[in-house]
Amino acid sequence: MNKATNIHPVFDRLLTRDDREQRLGQRAKVLWFTGLSGSGKSTIAEHLERKLHNAGYFAQVLDGDNIRSGINSNLGFSIEDRRENIRRISEIAKLYLNSGVITICSFISPTRAIRAQAAEIIGADDFLEIFVNTPLELCEKRDVKGLYKKARAGEIKGFTGIDSPYEAPESPFLDLKTADMTEEACTEKAFAAIEKAIEKS
Ligand code: ADX
Repeated sequence: MNKATNIHPVFDRLLTRDDREQRLGQRAKVLWFTGLSGSGKSTIAEHLERKLHNAGYFAQVLDGDNIRSGINSNLGFSIEDRRENIRRISEIAKLYLNSGVITICSFISPTRAIRAQAAEIIGADDFLEIFVNTPLELCEKRDVKGLYKKARAGEIKGFTGIDSPYEAPESPFLDLKTADMTEEACTEKAFAAIEKAIEKS
């Protein structure tokens, strides 16, 4: 005899990820951009988001500046805080993923261990790592936000690539060597690389 009483299973009423993907006509993935500050991650992520949108996909960028000024405003840049930053972001990305959204994450995510944690939370099959591979010298030369200058002057401590580590991915899904390509070409390359993975079969 079934001992469970007053139980009201709702499984048949719950929409699944697959239901949502069907509705959206796409398969959801997390596109995880990693690279140094000033490498071009956010710019390429935003171009890709627009390109996906124009092609009829439903995509959303999450990036350092909006997350760090909101839900993660209590975190700094120690390795522990970066790990917690990325852990929370990975949990958020997973919620988006399960809603069927193509989620584009753009964070330095500096160490292999931190990115491995993200892949574990999100699920290895849904985590596509995109290395925005811009040499430190070039990021520093561009210095879009003026932060490298401050870091060299000792005004910012623990800056990635200067006095805090960045470990390049060993086998990323995609390696974008931005020094050899325009931002548009990088966006095209990323779009072409992910198209198969997000197409509804
Ligand atoms: S992460 O290391 O935790 O993944 P995240 O991508 O969220 O970093 O934020 C990086 C952005 O924060 C940089 O692009 C830069 O604008 C700013 N920033 C401020 N302080 C630092 C620092 N010490 N190291 C790197 N980036 C910093």
